[in-house]
Order: sequence, then structure tokens, then C-alpha cells
Amino acid sequence: MKLTLNQLTLRFSDVTAVDHLSCTVNDGEFVSLLGPSGCGKSSTLFMLAGLYQPTEGELFFDDTKVNTVEPEHREIGMVFQNYALYPHMSVRKNIMFPLKMKKVSRKEANARAVEIAELVKIESLLERKPAQLSGGQQQRVAIARALVKHPKLLLLDEPLSNLDARLRINMRAEIKRIQRQVGITTIFVTHDQEEALSISDRILLMNQGRFQQFDHPQDVYLHPTNRFVAEFLGNPPINLLPVNFSEGTARLVQSDKQANSYLGVRPEHLAVVNDGANALRGRSESIESVGRDHVLTVAIQNQKVRILIDADQPIKAGDMVYVRPKPDRAYLFDNEGNTITAQWNGGLTDD
Ligand SMILES: Nc1ncnc2c1ncn2[C@@H]1O[C@H](COP(=O)(O)OP(=O)(O)OP(=O)(O)O)[C@@H](O)[C@H]1O
Ligand SMILES: [Mg+2]
Repeated sequence: MKLTLNQLTLRFSDVTAVDHLSCTVNDGEFVSLLGPSGCGKSSTLFMLAGLYQPTEGELFFDDTKVNTVEPEHREIGMVFQNYALYPHMSVRKNIMFPLKMKKVSRKEANARAVEIAELVKIESLLERKPAQLSGGQQQRVAIARALVKHPKLLLLDEPLSNLDARLRINMRAEIKRIQRQVGITTIFVTHDQEEALSISDRILLMNQGRFQQFDHPQDVYLHPTNRFVAEFLGNPPINLLPVNFSEGTARLVQSDKQANSYLGVRPEHLAVVNDGANALRGRSESIESVGRDHVLTVAIQNQKVRILIDADQPIKAGDMVYVRPKPDRAYLFDNEGNTITAQWNGGLTDD
């Protein structure tokens, strides 16, 4: 099923939780809603579910406007952050429950529950109660229960946030596998950028209720439309240097007050080089190994810059080094955080 949000807005008395959000999600697509806490992710999901009615704007499922359609008539499956399994019911009964509500016969409901349990790989746990399951297993039951009605849209609100780090990684691969197998249009809410980057066909980034970017993971990462997106994605985070930009050259300045723009470069797009042409000179401060990566911190005037370097690069703390960004992987933002479209020719100086 295709989803269309047109200027979708949700206001509470004093807060605009979702502010004129527009986008189209294709049939069968896996889209992550990503953004900081309070940016309106759950509010958006709740409007899709029909639990909140939009204050303004339109919502379409395929070509049908559904603004006022009741949740039970929307053909959606939803998994909330806390799963909300029924504790007194077995796994089998939990999964069958939505079908019972729809008056599906007991025999058929059971057959469908078993089929979906096999899909999410919990067929051996059907007689257990939720309290007898691990977090990951409970998560699978919640997904099975959301899918058993064969919904046209799957809504997941931070479904992995109660799981430990390793299990999260396994479960996100599982969610992706299940989604592919069923081919269901899926909206996955998360504030974990790594999760969104690894699982999504496209990522919709929001901030303060407003649309920021809607693109393939590689594109939001490599072609951020503004400073917010550039800063929100990436670990270690993008370096942002205050510069004065004119006639194709960026000149490093001492303070934000002197800057007319900011040069953003990710740690992996900076290199330590031997000459000072279009490079910045600084003192190596520390080298930190984070798993496989080595992160070099260089002090350039009063700025600290982080660079991903090879383990065998012979740099010691205290060395003077030149640092050069890859011009096609550096971004210029104005003081409001908007991307400056003027071409930067790589010209860079620190004097
Ligand atoms: N029922 C409500 N009444 C008033 N304000 C609300 C209500 N629900 C949410 N809000 C406000 O709307 C904004 C968006 O909230 P929302 O829950 O959609 O954020 P979120 O992106 O899901 O955040 P989180 O990552 O913390 O779950 C917040 O400022 C929140 O305080
Ligand atoms: Mg939320």
C-alpha cells in the first residue's frame, strides 16, 4: 500500500507536534522515521494509526483519504515500544487475539497463528506465557500479533529499545527479513541513527515536527540537505569549522561571530597530508582507538577536529600536521544551518 502525507499537522494546545509534513511512501517500502526525542515521530505514527486525528492536512492510503477512518478500519498492524502483550494469555492466544476480535473462526485463527509464528520463528514457544520469554522472544510475539491480520501497513514505534545492544542488532535484521518476506509497507520509528541507516529503504528525518530530508540512507549521510541532518548522522560526529567563505575559498576564523558560514567535514573525509596547500595546520593532540578505527584529534587554532586515520599512520601526539578535506565531501552551511549551494572549489586557508 502507498502512503501519502500532505501537509500533515498535529497541534496540541500549546505544541505543534507535527508541522506540515509531506511525503510519499511507496508500496512495500521500509521507511524509518528518525529524529531527536520530541521531534514528532510517535505523533506522526499515531496519525497513521488513526489514534490521533490530524489538525490540518491530508492522509491517503493508496488513493483513499483516511483522515477520519477509525483505527480498526485502517488495516494496520502496530507494535508499540512496550509490546503490551497480554500477560495471562499464552503466546498462541496473544497472536490469535486480533483475529478473535474480527470473529475469525477458532480453527482458522489457530492455523494463521501457527503460520505467522513460523515466520517469526517462535513456533516452539506457543504454549508459554509472556513472562516466560526473553525480551527478543516477546518482541517476536508482538510482531506476530501485528502481522496476523495480514495488514497493509506495519507501524513500529521504537520496537527494539528495550533490548540489549547485541539483541537489537539481531532483531533489526530479523525485522528486515520478516518485512521482506511479507512485502508489507513499513514505518519504523527510531532515534537510533545506526539502526535507521542499516535497516531502511529510505529515512525520513524530522526535527521539531518539521520535515528535514527523505532519502536513501547513503544519500542522507553523504548529501545532507542542511546542518541539522549533517550533525544528526555520523559517529564520531561531523566536524564543523567556522569559516569566512568568499570567492570559492573558505578561511578558517577564530569565533562564530566572525564566521559567515561553517565548513562541515566528516572524520573519514579528512586526510593528514604533507603539504599546506588548501589544508589547515594543527597540532596532533591524541589518538584514540575505537574498535577498528583510530580517531586522531587535531587542534587547529582554537578548534578541535577529529579525523579517522589508518592504524599504521605514523602520527604521534604533539606532531604538527596538515589536514585537508575532500572537497566533494565537504559541506558549507550558512549561519542558519542551510546548505550554501555556491560551489566550493576546495580553497582553504587558516591565516
Ligand atoms: N498528548 C499530548 N499532549 C500534549 N503534547 C504532546 C502530547 N503527545 C506529544 N506531545 C508533544 O508533542 C511533541 C512530539 O512528541 P512525540 O511523542 O511525537 O515525539 P517523539 O519524536 O516520538 O519523541 P521520543 O523519541 O521521545 O519518543 C513533543 O513536544 C511532545 O511533548
Ligand atoms: Mg516517541
